[in-house]
Amino acid sequence: MTAPLRKPEPNPVRGAIQIDNVVKSYGKGESQVLAVDHCSLDIPGGEICMIVGPSGCGKTTLLNAIAGFHDITSGRILLDGEEICGPGKLKARPGPDRVVVFQNGALFPWKTILDNVIYGPVRQGVVTKSEAKEKGRALLADVGLSGIEDNYPGEISSGMRRRVEIARALINDPKVLLLDEPYRALDALTKSVMHEALLNVYYRNRVTIFFITHDLEEAVFLGHRVVISTSRPCRPKKIIPVDIPHPRDHTVVTSRRFREIMEETNVLVREEAMAAFRAGDKEG
Ligand SMILES: Nc1ncnc2c1ncn2[C@@H]1O[C@H](COP(=O)(O)OP(=O)(O)O)[C@@H](O)[C@H]1O
Ligand SMILES: [Mg+2]
Repeated sequence: MTAPLRKPEPNPVRGAIQIDNVVKSYGKGESQVLAVDHCSLDIPGGEICMIVGPSGCGKTTLLNAIAGFHDITSGRILLDGEEICGPGKLKARPGPDRVVVFQNGALFPWKTILDNVIYGPVRQGVVTKSEAKEKGRALLADVGLSGIEDNYPGEISSGMRRRVEIARALINDPKVLLLDEPYRALDALTKSVMHEALLNVYYRNRVTIFFITHDLEEAVFLGHRVVISTSRPCRPKKIIPVDIPHPRDHTVVTSRRFREIMEETNVLVREEAMAAFRAGDKEG
């Protein structure tokens, strides 16, 4: 008699990222730019990890390496123990397990909101259209956008479009969501709606979030940890754990602990901004 099959163990660390001694430089000789230098960072699966640092310090370079958009000069990046980026083009490979939300994300203007959200899985033929629609509606509800499924992108506000992009990013069940200053252009009130919508969708669809921002309030409000990068080249200068329990809502920003963490973060970021200014870095 054969032994009964064991049920597979649930994997609690889905989406764990290990950034291991990563160096990335661009160009050669005198024009060489060292963007990331001996950067190591472990991000547990399901964590919201916020990255702040001066413009041009190398944050986007690091995010693009995690996304597998380019290789690195040395070191390695692992996702759930598997190498996703290393030196040499073949070592850098984008995959459906990671999805990037850019600052200027684009929706198809001629498709309805729901068709935009379900575009990926329907095109790949991985699910039926009705299954995709059901999931798309649920994700739109998670970001607070029920009832606009049949509208077109031109008919909704820019803040709503940004929320649609988050729903679209999550429809394929990625392990990791990579966000590069997605709310930079939004006003404070719209941003705060974005933050609550992002947290709501995160609480229902746990993913690892790697989020670059210049906005310290955004960093402390959303993050389990805030990683402060040195001025270029990028490397964690200090990692600040945000010991304010999740779930969070907008009321936490007035708490004393929130203000204390903001202050601590601000001092460190300012030091690096001044260092970048002295080094002559302006805009990245
Ligand atoms: N493709 C590239 N080729 C050459 N230099 C680049 C390239 N991308 C970025 N850089 C340089 O690398 C440094 C870090 O850039 P980036 O990662 O975009 O910084 P950040 O996102 O922190 O503003 C900057 O000096 C930038 O000019
Ligand atoms: Mg950048």
